Amino acid sequence: MPARIVGTGSALPALCISNQKLEEYIDTTDEWIRSRTGIEERHIAVEETTASMAVSAAKAAMENAGVKAQEIDLIIAGSVSGDMCFPSLACQIQGAVLAENAIAFDVNAACAGFLFGLSIAEAYFTSGMAKTALIIGAETLSKMMDWNDRSTCVLFGDGAGAAIVKKDEKGIMGLVQGSDGGRGDALTCQNRPVNNPFVKNPTDLDYTKMDGQAVYRFAVKTVPASITQALEKAGVDAGEVKYFLLHQANIRIIEAVAKKLGQPIEKFPTNLQKCGNISAASVPILLDYVNKSGKLQKGDRIVLAGFGAGLTWAAAVLTW
Ligand code: COA
Repeated sequence: MPARIVGTGSALPALCISNQKLEEYIDTTDEWIRSRTGIEERHIAVEETTASMAVSAAKAAMENAGVKAQEIDLIIAGSVSGDMCFPSLACQIQGAVLAENAIAFDVNAACAGFLFGLSIAEAYFTSGMAKTALIIGAETLSKMMDWNDRSTCVLFGDGAGAAIVKKDEKGIMGLVQGSDGGRGDALTCQNRPVNNPFVKNPTDLDYTKMDGQAVYRFAVKTVPASITQALEKAGVDAGEVKYFLLHQANIRIIEAVAKKLGQPIEKFPTNLQKCGNISAASVPILLDYVNKSGKLQKGDRIVLAGFGAGLTWAAAVLTW
């Protein structure tokens, strides 16, 4: 499949909030959060916006790839928490990085958003419609939380990750995606409710609601299955994979996936301890950390996997 990641970038808000700090605001404990999720702290936007972090991550990815703004002909932003209903986050990024030759649009596939973007870029490359894509996952989830609901607000964080993807013969080796809107109620957040002069009793703004156990069951079943399918499609054995970079929702989900795939947990780098769950931004931020730490060599096989609200999921086997 003709798409290779050639550069990465990420950005996090300056404010870092530990579990202990959260105890001052919410009826929770560091011990509960750590033991149930592995999360120790998360970054929370105060001055930053989804677009400002997305632009920082995009510029870092362009620099890492050595790609100029004018070369980019496709920008796809995955997000569930853009600052604006319109223009799209992707158009905001385009305006800020001066990528005047790109077409730009958003994708809402929640925590699988970055991988859905990658898949669309690959399809554009295959059809000859683009050659150089900027894919971003960016979120300000802290504004989507009910900060009185301790079962959700402690899990999520804010940030952005980005990658430059180029048309290439040897990049993505296998990619699978799926959606199940029939189970979408497990993780929801309403947009603005209908409110106009003709509505008798307008409803209030709503926040993120989650059936944690249903999402957990979905993840531990679907993620290993989708990774196995992507590996089969790529003709790659799990043992050949250097790193499995999974959406950073919960350490117990990652451990369960490693066990089901029969792979050592050391092959599953994590940063959820420091970042929490950042939905569409989780996978590209983790990829940027692994890339910048020098752990990836050209030719390495890696797996990316995202899953979340929709329900949506995707897994890709890549040659670095
Ligand atoms: N601090 C302290 N106690 C908390 C708490 C918190 N932050 N959040 C919930 N609790 C309490 C609950 O009130 C409940 O108390 P009760 O038994 O007295 O009613 C107890 O902890 C257990 O709650 P429960 O929801 O059953 O916990 P759980 O073991 O299922 O763990 C999750 C909750 C969210 C950690 C777990 O379901 C999970 O990881 N799900 C997947 C979520 C996910 O990854 N979502 C994103 C996917 S993109």
